Amino acid sequence: MPGPSTRSVHLLSETDPATRAVVAPLVANAAFAYDTVADWRRVALGEVPGDIYSRNSNPTVRLFEQKMAALEGADGAVAFANGMGAIASTLFALLSPGQRAVTLKDAYGGTYLTFTELLPRFQVQCAVCETDDAEAIEAAIGGGCDLLYLETPTNPTLKVVDLARLAAAAHRAGAIVIVDNTFATPINQQPLALGADLVIHSATKFIGGHGDAMGGVVCGRRDLTDRIYRWREIAGGALDAQNAFLLLRSLKTLGLRIARQNDNAMGVSRYLETHPAVARVHYPGLPSHAAHAIAARQMSGFGGMLSFELRGGLEAATRVLDHLDYAYLAANLGQVETVAGPPSLTSHVELTAEERAAAGVPEGLIRYSVGIEDLDDLIGDLRSALDAL
Ligand SMILES: Cc1ncc(COP(=O)(O)O)c(C=O)c1O
Repeated sequence: MPGPSTRSVHLLSETDPATRAVVAPLVANAAFAYDTVADWRRVALGEVPGDIYSRNSNPTVRLFEQKMAALEGADGAVAFANGMGAIASTLFALLSPGQRAVTLKDAYGGTYLTFTELLPRFQVQCAVCETDDAEAIEAAIGGGCDLLYLETPTNPTLKVVDLARLAAAAHRAGAIVIVDNTFATPINQQPLALGADLVIHSATKFIGGHGDAMGGVVCGRRDLTDRIYRWREIAGGALDAQNAFLLLRSLKTLGLRIARQNDNAMGVSRYLETHPAVARVHYPGLPSHAAHAIAARQMSGFGGMLSFELRGGLEAATRVLDHLDYAYLAANLGQVETVAGPPSLTSHVELTAEERAAAGVPEGLIRYSVGIEDLDDLIGDLRSALDAL
C-alpha cells in the first residue's frame, strides 16, 4: 500500500470529469435537481447513486469522508460540523438506556461532560476511570461494558493508554471500542489496526491544520458508521461543503505538517526539560513520560502537542504566556501557527474549577500546540519568557 502522504495526495482521483479541474470542485448546494420525478425517486430509493439534500449527502463532504476513511484504514466515515458533533452523535447513535459505557477521566472536556452530564440523563451508566490505571479500566470493563471510549494522547496532560490491551479487554466483554485520535492523527497512530472499531477526530485541529475550518469525523466499521449516518440524517449536524473543501485541501499537506510538528514538539520538550523554572513536561516522546514505552510501541511519531507545569504555578504560567511572541493565545490546537493557553480557557473551559480539580487537570498547566515555525525561534521565544520569571 502507498504511504500516507501519497494516499492523501493521490487517493480517489479528484479530477472533475465535467471540467477536468485537478482539484475537486466545491459543491456548495443545499439540494440537487432531477429531470423527472422517476429519476429523483431512483436516487431516493438508493437504486442509483446521487445526492438529494446536503444534510444527508454532498459530493464535497463525501470525498472528505472517503479520504479520511482511507487514511484511517476504515470501511466507512461520517463527517460532522465539528469534533463534538462527531463525538456526541456517535455516542447517542450507538448507546441506549440501560447500557454501560467506560471512559477515561482525561478525555477532552466536552467528551468528559457528555459522559458525566448528558448520557446519565438518558439512563446510560458511565464509568469514568483513572486514565493511567489499565487494571482499573479492565476491571470497569469486566463489570459490564457496551462501549469503551478512549483518547490517546489526552488533552491537555498528554497521557497515553495502551490501545491494543484495552481494545482486547473490551472485545472480550462484547463492547464497541472508540478512540479519539485528534492529537496523534492517522500519520502518527492507527487505532483501527490496534483493535479499535471507530476512530474520531476533531478535524478542526491537525486535519485542518490552518485554523480556518471546523469539522469532525468518525471512521471505522461500516455497520457502525451506517448507524451514525442514520443518526445524522435525522438529527443533523453534518459537515458543510465549504469546510469540507478546506479540509480536503489541508489533507494533502498532512504528512508534511505532522512530520515538522513532531520534530518541533520533540525539540521544544527536550529544551523545556532543561529549564530550572519548569517543574514537569508532558510529552509522550520524552523517555521521562510515564507511558513512553507504550507510546513508542503504538505511535510512529509523538505528535505536535505538549504541556508543561512551572514551579511558580498559575501565576508563573500566566506571565510566561503573556510574554510569548511566537504563540497565539487562543483556544485551538494543531494549527501551523504555535498556539498556547491554560486548560481553564482551552480544553476544559466548559468545566468549573471544582470539576477541573476532580478531573485532575492542573490549573497552572500551559498547553502548547507546536506549529511549523523554525525550532530555534520557538526555543528562543520560550527561553526569553522563562528567563524573565
Ligand atoms: C481531543 C479533542 N477531541 C475533541 C475535540 C472537540 O472538537 P471541536 O472543537 O471541533 O468540537 C477537541 C477540541 O479541542 C479535542 O482537543
